[in-house]
Amino acid sequence: MKPIKVGLMGIGTVGTGTYTVLLRNQEEIRRRAGRAIEIAMVADLDNDRARAIVGPDIEVVSDAFQIVDNPDIDIVIELIGGYGVARELVMKAITHGKHVVTANKALLATYGTEIFRAAQEHGVMVAFEAAVAGGIPIIKALREGLTANRIQWIAGIINGTTNFILSEMRDKGLDFDVVLKEAQRLGYAEADPTFDIEGVDAAHKATLMSAIAFGIPVQFDKAHVEGITKLQASDIRYAEQLGYRIKLLGIARRAEQGIELRVHPTLIPANRLIANVEGAMNAVLVQGDAVGATLYYGKGAGSEPTASAVIADLVDITRLATADPEHRVPYLAFQPDEMSDTPILPMTDVTTSYYLRIRVADKLGVVADITRILADSAISIDAMLQKEPGEGETQTDVIILTHATKEKHVNKAIAAIEALSTVAGEVTRIRLESLS
Ligand code: HSE
Repeated sequence: MKPIKVGLMGIGTVGTGTYTVLLRNQEEIRRRAGRAIEIAMVADLDNDRARAIVGPDIEVVSDAFQIVDNPDIDIVIELIGGYGVARELVMKAITHGKHVVTANKALLATYGTEIFRAAQEHGVMVAFEAAVAGGIPIIKALREGLTANRIQWIAGIINGTTNFILSEMRDKGLDFDVVLKEAQRLGYAEADPTFDIEGVDAAHKATLMSAIAFGIPVQFDKAHVEGITKLQASDIRYAEQLGYRIKLLGIARRAEQGIELRVHPTLIPANRLIANVEGAMNAVLVQGDAVGATLYYGKGAGSEPTASAVIADLVDITRLATADPEHRVPYLAFQPDEMSDTPILPMTDVTTSYYLRIRVADKLGVVADITRILADSAISIDAMLQKEPGEGETQTDVIILTHATKEKHVNKAIAAIEALSTVAGEVTRIRLESLS
């Protein structure tokens, strides 16, 4: 059978890895796919660099539209990123009947509904394993390996940059700003790390996982997104004293009234395997009703780890390209006409536990006032830690862990606590998941 022809749009870090691994493992990949997979064209604005990577035998162009317009190309790989030209290229490739492989979580989390609908209409596949947790085959696991299960929840460390920062803050007792600079120096964090540290990148990935897990459309606009910029070294220390680690988790959970979709710093028991995922590594914990808890761990970024996911998609498409479109694996795991309209819950209706750090005057009755407010809001206390005031200080920290409650009750209690004359400044709130 003649090779399937691929056009690679963008040959940066992941594109180079894709080219290299395809070449290195071409014989094994051919045996798995059933036919050879050939990169026939590469588009990159930096023509010279692209040419230096792929050599003289592959056509190199500056304009990626030449790839999507070329009738000889069967599959395009979009590694340009962003929502601008990448969106136009993907839509045009689809309307020209080409299958698409992309690592672009921002594009799919935001415009996925339009893109998947177009792909359905034109009978082509859109594959995006590389968009979530880099080399970890979590999309495949959710869409195929766990297909027997009613998924109950997913909790993932799905941003390596923030996990590196949190690990360093804990390990070295450093503040966020100091570690961020170090992460940038080491090349983990981008020069503009906003999407990483503000939780947006993790929310894109959690949105994609929520769609696949629960058979709902991608709805990034409904996700609660909170990053790690406000975390203080003291919170990480207090959490540790209470037996917890703080991780930026992407959570998608089936609740009674709808789906919780949220990204925020989270206390998790230090003895959970996932709490010990350190540095730039990623891990996703999935709870299914039949299988129980399963944990997926690996590199969430990088040239060859992400290429591993891109090539897995190429092989899948190559295997399935000749199958009747009605009987292929659906993009979002559920058949397109079987999508559910279960709503994504507003954050106020989310149920979880909380870590509260309250700066108080070291006076009689302060703790009693706080615990009364919590009791009045029907919030049950799980653990409490009161620090000795430092030498010459008149204020101290009170740390409270609560049992599970609704976010709206906690909002009300925090407002009442902050109104106490003995409480200084804002209450620090970090959500807590036992993941049991
Ligand atoms: N910026 C991401 C991270 C990698 O830090 O995990 C690509 O998704």
